[in-house]
Amino acid sequence: MKVLLLNGSRREHGCTYTALCEVASALEGAGVETEIFYAGKPTDEAVAQAAEKLAEADGLVVGSPVYWASPSGEIVTFLDKLAGKAAASMPHKPAAAVASARRAGTTATLDVLLKYFEYHQMPVVSSCYWPMVHGNTPDEVRRDEEGLQIMRTLGRNMAWLLKCIEAGRAAGIEPPAPEAEKKRTNFIR
Ligand SMILES: Cc1cc2nc3c(=O)[nH]c(=O)nc-3n(C[C@H](O)[C@H](O)[C@H](O)COP(=O)(O)O)c2cc1C
Repeated sequence: MKVLLLNGSRREHGCTYTALCEVASALEGAGVETEIFYAGKPTDEAVAQAAEKLAEADGLVVGSPVYWASPSGEIVTFLDKLAGKAAASMPHKPAAAVASARRAGTTATLDVLLKYFEYHQMPVVSSCYWPMVHGNTPDEVRRDEEGLQIMRTLGRNMAWLLKCIEAGRAAGIEPPAPEAEKKRTNFIR
């Protein structure tokens, strides 16, 4: 069982990374393998690598810093490309979003990130608060005790859901098959 964590910050080892590490260590503590992938440079090559990793993963966590009360442009570009390339690997894999900010724009950021999961039929994993940390430096994030607790709870909740899905599969419960034809109603004639 493995979870892929995407770090959509321009800073590879900054606040977002610090938050994702806390999620990852809670997942590992619950027996789930993790990989943090740097998604702060949305090149075609990096997206192709992430697409391969997502195909192998059982769950996805996307982390972004807040830039101008929104996700980073880098993670939005990365996810736009990834959704085009890896759409077939996304349905029914649990997913979660994490935001890191100095102060404001976290819920607007989370709202944008969740759109990718909801479109692709990914069960959204939640925590004991909206999944955010506060800080401008990794050290400030490490002092955000509530934020870290939210990250750990998120990791444990995702591990639990992954185990439920695995137990369901063992009992013969598979994800629902899609309808034969995907309808696209544009209201344009
Ligand atoms: C271009 C830019 C825009 C930012 N805009 C916001 C903002 O709107 N609200 C906020 O609280 N912090 C803002 N910040 C601060 C970052 O969100 C914050 O420092 C975050 O924890 C950085 O995460 P990182 O170290 O992973 O990049 C901004 C930072 C940058 C570089």
